[in-house]
Amino acid sequence: MAGAPEAHVHQDAQELAAEAADLFLWLADQAIATRGQFAVALSGGTTPKAVYRTLASTQSKLDWTKVLFFFGDERCVPPSHEDSNFLMAQTSLFQPLGIPETRIFRMAGELDPEPASRAYEAIMRRTLGPSSGGWPRFDLVLLGLGEDGHTASLFPGTPALGEQIRWVVPGFAPVGIKHRLTVTLNVINHADVVLFLVAGAGKAQIARKVLEPSSSEAAPYPASLVHPTAGRYLWFLDKAAASDLTVTKQHLSSREE
Ligand code: 6PG
Repeated sequence: MAGAPEAHVHQDAQELAAEAADLFLWLADQAIATRGQFAVALSGGTTPKAVYRTLASTQSKLDWTKVLFFFGDERCVPPSHEDSNFLMAQTSLFQPLGIPETRIFRMAGELDPEPASRAYEAIMRRTLGPSSGGWPRFDLVLLGLGEDGHTASLFPGTPALGEQIRWVVPGFAPVGIKHRLTVTLNVINHADVVLFLVAGAGKAQIARKVLEPSSSEAAPYPASLVHPTAGRYLWFLDKAAASDLTVTKQHLSSREE
């Protein structure tokens, strides 16, 4: 099991986005050169939007037709709904880059969560296939962190956290869009690279609780259960979100092994 994550602190959300986009392109270039494709699970929420916009604005020579875009989770709303993670990625990344629909694997948030989760798992099995120990191997999984310690749509105290067999299950959020679809922890933990994107002072306390838990603290948060089995484990934080941390790697190149 991989150890504690490498925590990289960036000056602000803009620098975090630029570094995350740079790492995305570097990983994609490496994967395409060695395996002919790059499979990424995108995160929803607001933090990744700046990363997607930065990717869309780079003049990268990357062959985007070799990138397979999946989602780590989705709200159970239609793809045109303002809270849809797909819509956020569509407007900030897919449309500006002209990503063909055949390269975008959308979670059907408009359908009943149970059949929609099973359908998405079938798409993942058909496209990625089980590889590492019977689990799919994403080249990169992007994650965000909620102030309650959730990540993807794995919320505290929900059945999705304990799922050991399925790749995708219905999730349940306590506030906002309650019904969700989410990949399970085993899918996240079998990725080659897991990258948390955490920005803003509002995340400082939960970031410290997840990265530097005190012995007296209660059961681990969903984000605390992310432990890539063999992959690289990274957190990109801005200074505000890292303000309660004691030990971090300052702004170094994230390409180090
Ligand atoms: C979602 C995300 C969720 C998100 C966190 C942080 O669908 O909302 O997958 O896990 O990453 O809630 O969201 P922010 O980036 O908006 O703070």
